[in-house]
Amino acid sequence: MAVGMLHDYDYEKYPDEHLQHTEKPLLDAGLPEADVRAILSHGYGICTDVEPVTNMEKSLFTVDELTGIIQACARMRPLGIRDLEIKSFMKKFKDKKFAAKCDRELILKGCEMLGMDVKEVAEIAIEGMRPHAEELGIAGNG
Ligand SMILES: [Fe+2]
Repeated sequence: MAVGMLHDYDYEKYPDEHLQHTEKPLLDAGLPEADVRAILSHGYGICTDVEPVTNMEKSLFTVDELTGIIQACARMRPLGIRDLEIKSFMKKFKDKKFAAKCDRELILKGCEMLGMDVKEVAEIAIEGMRPHAEELGIAGNG
């Protein structure tokens, strides 16, 4: 899905001006306006003022940060994400010192927008990531 792949389009080149160099090049490249809007909205309140409105936008906003914690959890386990259960994830989610750079407040705000609780969203995210464990580098060593 293009939005998932392209949401950090300018991050590598402009880490301090994230999403400020995204709109024009992606529109010029022919990406639909709705997709560009979704990409911009994942930085809502951080580096853009484009509020997530659609479900896709809200999901992207929420899981962008959430998947960081999931990946950090998975990296600590011999079997990676393959046997990561929601219970273990929630423990790490509540431990503010774990993957401290991942903003819990932001994730909770996103979940509220979605009308779901973190546990539900994380379960879906983990299930969605599991089949891609190898490419994400979280398949473990076993
Ligand atoms: Fe981003």
